[in-house]
Amino acid sequence: MRPILMIEDLSKEFYLHEQKKKISSCRNISLSLQKGGFIGIVGTSGAGKSTVLRCIYRTYLATGGRVVYDSLAYGPLDLVAAAERQIIYLRRAEIGYVSQFLSTLPRTTAFQYVTDAALDAGFPQDEAEERAAEMLRYFRLREDLWALYPVTFSGGEKLRLNLAQAMVKAPRLLLLDEPTASLDPDTKLLVRDLLIRLKAQGTSMLGIFHDLAFMDGLCDQVFNLSRGSFADREERAVK
Ligand SMILES: Nc1ncnc2c1ncn2[C@@H]1O[C@H](COP(=O)(O)OP(=O)(O)OP(=O)(O)O)[C@@H](O)[C@H]1O
Ligand SMILES: [Mg+2]
Repeated sequence: MRPILMIEDLSKEFYLHEQKKKISSCRNISLSLQKGGFIGIVGTSGAGKSTVLRCIYRTYLATGGRVVYDSLAYGPLDLVAAAERQIIYLRRAEIGYVSQFLSTLPRTTAFQYVTDAALDAGFPQDEAEERAAEMLRYFRLREDLWALYPVTFSGGEKLRLNLAQAMVKAPRLLLLDEPTASLDPDTKLLVRDLLIRLKAQGTSMLGIFHDLAFMDGLCDQVFNLSRGSFADREERAVK
């Protein structure tokens, strides 16, 4: 079976014009994610973990290598070279991303935010609203908050909303950048259970986690990133 994601020799450099300095955030990154698989990435702060995820989601444009995603809409597509409209479509319909930082839209209620994500993924209105309500309940976001703008939410509430928003789509490929970093142990377990459920439904995932114990039994492979490249290059098979 063709992998859903194949990264070949990916690198990202930044050129800081003022200092006339080049920073290499990641290099020689190669990996292959099977359909329905789950790859974990660990590594110290600043090692380049988020950079790799951002290069896949195309928040950053890689400076070298290929990121071939086997999309439903276009077939195998190099996300480094793909057209902007293709990236926009894939983000809507196929690829989800939970950021390490909290991001919400102004003037959209929490409920609308999650419903819109489900609509974008192609669910009809009724079902999108049902799924949104189910997801918000799952992440225990109090119902009196649903009609509010998330700008006033606490950090944990925003993060749970982001998780609901990314997961309501049941995307084909889900990128997770420390999705549990600021959550309490109970909510962490909810995230974990939902990831297991999504995996069982066929979602393929690539996730960064600080907490190795959290990943136990969840990942098929773990890669250790050190100063921009995979430390041992020999991934550890977890299962
Ligand atoms: N936009 C940018 N411009 C310049 N340097 C950047 C940029 N983004 C990342 N870097 C640098 O690349 C390196 C890797 O950053 P990255 O955010 O990928 O690390 P990380 O492994 O995710 O760390 P953390 O665990 O703290 O989130 C860092 O040294 C960072 O300063
Ligand atoms: Mg990071």
